[in-house]
Amino acid sequence: MQKLTVKTSRPYDVYIGRGTIKFLEDYLEEQGFCGKILVVTDQTIFDLHFDALKRYLPVENVTVKIVPQSEAAKTFDNYLAVLQTLSDNNFTRGDVVLAFGGGAIGDLAAFAAATYLRGIRFFYVPTTLLSMCDASVGGKCGIDFLGKNDVGTFYQPEIVISDVSLLDTLPEIQFKSGMAEILKCAIISPIDFSLFDDEKKNVEELIFAALSFKAKIVQADEFDNAARHALNFGHTLGHAIEQASSFKILHGQAVAAGMSMITAMAAQNGLVHKDMPDIVDGLIEKIGLNPTSPYDFSELKKFVTKDKKNSGGVLKIVLAPRPHELMIVPVSLDSFLGGGKWATI
Ligand SMILES: NC(=O)c1ccc[n+]([C@@H]2O[C@H](COP(=O)([O-])OP(=O)(O)OC[C@H]3O[C@@H](n4cnc5c(N)ncnc54)[C@H](O)[C@@H]3O)[C@@H](O)[C@H]2O)c1
Ligand SMILES: [Zn+2]
Repeated sequence: MQKLTVKTSRPYDVYIGRGTIKFLEDYLEEQGFCGKILVVTDQTIFDLHFDALKRYLPVENVTVKIVPQSEAAKTFDNYLAVLQTLSDNNFTRGDVVLAFGGGAIGDLAAFAAATYLRGIRFFYVPTTLLSMCDASVGGKCGIDFLGKNDVGTFYQPEIVISDVSLLDTLPEIQFKSGMAEILKCAIISPIDFSLFDDEKKNVEELIFAALSFKAKIVQADEFDNAARHALNFGHTLGHAIEQASSFKILHGQAVAAGMSMITAMAAQNGLVHKDMPDIVDGLIEKIGLNPTSPYDFSELKKFVTKDKKNSGGVLKIVLAPRPHELMIVPVSLDSFLGGGKWATI
């Protein structure tokens, strides 16, 4: 078992390992908790894992709210439905919203917890690799309004319990997609690449390493004004690939291809070591994903223009000049979209 303390304005602990779900009971007992708990989850997770969770909760005080799966959870209707459930059951600020699911459930439940009564207690038990290694830490939450994640706030959880045994039922492609986000961290930080030789066996260590890296950055920039941008390696083109596929390509798959494409472009511009494209592609293949984007750069351009991270005609491109090194290069948007030589600013 690994424990990580995230030292944000309101610090919290993350427990990672097999069987850590039982710490929920210890935590509630330590606190002499006798309030109510609303578990927000979806039908798949409820059917597969609610029995395991239930054993460690005071069931007489638990209400369950089932919402649609994946991105379909992150709507105003579902947000209002969660608020309605909290209100119908007379939840007060000392009561708890517990997200039991992947990043989509976490984003919705945390946003409801953050805004109901100006903030009630929020626990997160992530069930996907992506939510264990990324979404459960950092406090970003919200729903989709006119675009993805365009209504939301920052709300750190009080405790995160990542029980990796929940991953046993996760579809393989979801696992690989989560692994891409860990690989992203490894390429730009000192995480040992040999851990990917057997990523299933090393999953606990890999989650811990990725979260430790993310936590450091979040601690330095909790509200995403500067340093958190580093976490966007592969995301400028990754977001474009996701959008071009109408979100049929999973986030991690898109980020993997985005890391490959941006590294190849940066190598042509002499900004990264000439071996980096092969190194990045080799690592992506090692985790079982395809580094090649199904879309050409010309098909992705229109989505880059819309990306919220491009401001004032300048794109801040995150690169790894060599393995485990991080560099952020401001590039003029026009020169980037031109596909030729980048004008760095
Ligand atoms: N807040 C953040 O910092 C942050 C970071 C990254 C991503 N996100 C958000 O996370 C979402 C993506 O999250 P995700 O990739 O975790 O997936 P998800 O929440 O979309 O869930 C994917 C699917 O996996 C199923 N599932 C979940 N756990 C399972 C398990 N243990 N066994 C079997 N099936 C399981 C779910 O029912 C769902 O159908 C996006 O909405 C993205 O915007 C948020
Ligand atoms: Zn991501």
